[in-house]
Amino acid sequence: KDIRSIIIAIDGHSSCGKSTVARDLAKMLNIAYIDTGAMYRAVTLFALRQNMIVDGKINEEQLRNNLENIVIDFRLNPDKKLNETYLNGENVEEKIRSLEVSNNVSPISALGFVRKHLVALQRRMGEKGGVVLDGRDIGTVVFPNADLKIFMTASPEIRAKRRYDEMVAKGLTPKFEEILENIKERDKIDSTRSESPLKQADDALVLDNSHMTRREQLEWILNKINDIDKSA
Ligand code: DC
Repeated sequence: KDIRSIIIAIDGHSSCGKSTVARDLAKMLNIAYIDTGAMYRAVTLFALRQNMIVDGKINEEQLRNNLENIVIDFRLNPDKKLNETYLNGENVEEKIRSLEVSNNVSPISALGFVRKHLVALQRRMGEKGGVVLDGRDIGTVVFPNADLKIFMTASPEIRAKRRYDEMVAKGLTPKFEEILENIKERDKIDSTRSESPLKQADDALVLDNSHMTRREQLEWILNKINDIDKSA
């Protein structure tokens, strides 16, 4: 199978390093990376800016009527050699990672009409292949015929420890127990929502990276790609 037409789907829990390994893979194979979480974040940023979310309450009607005015694309930053997220022509890569967006993205991503719109866009972006996508529903909904499906996970304690270390490195003073609770809560919300809940596809390969380095994860996936090459 030609790498330039391959579709790789990476799904899994929050905060287990999906985007890191997806980016590493895209760089290594010289294929495109589509961060679908960034797309849900961009819609959330748009809704916040237009005052369509007030005190956590979403004006669904207004958002639905404005979906066509939300243009999202990814453009290469040549200095960083990374794709960045654009909302209506503006680089929002950093803004979509803010606490305010993070705190509001989950209910936005639970709206059926938002999902339908973004899934259609993701399919158009990826249909030619030569692409790795990460998210929650890539192997189950967006590209059920993906050439390789990976379901990533790590124990909640390990994910909480990584998040804790990141925050400490930034000079913050987080509480480990709070982070752990937050991760468990998000797992529950992601897996039980009615619209496209996080679920392992039957034919997905499980990558538990609790005790793996970044390099080991990349090699693990490259090996699986070699295997499909042989069987194709
Ligand atoms: O991966 P992330 O943290 O950037 O995702 C942001 C939010 O979007 C998170 O609440 C899960 C949701 N999401 C989703 O529902 N479906 C996807 N394909 C990707 C993300």
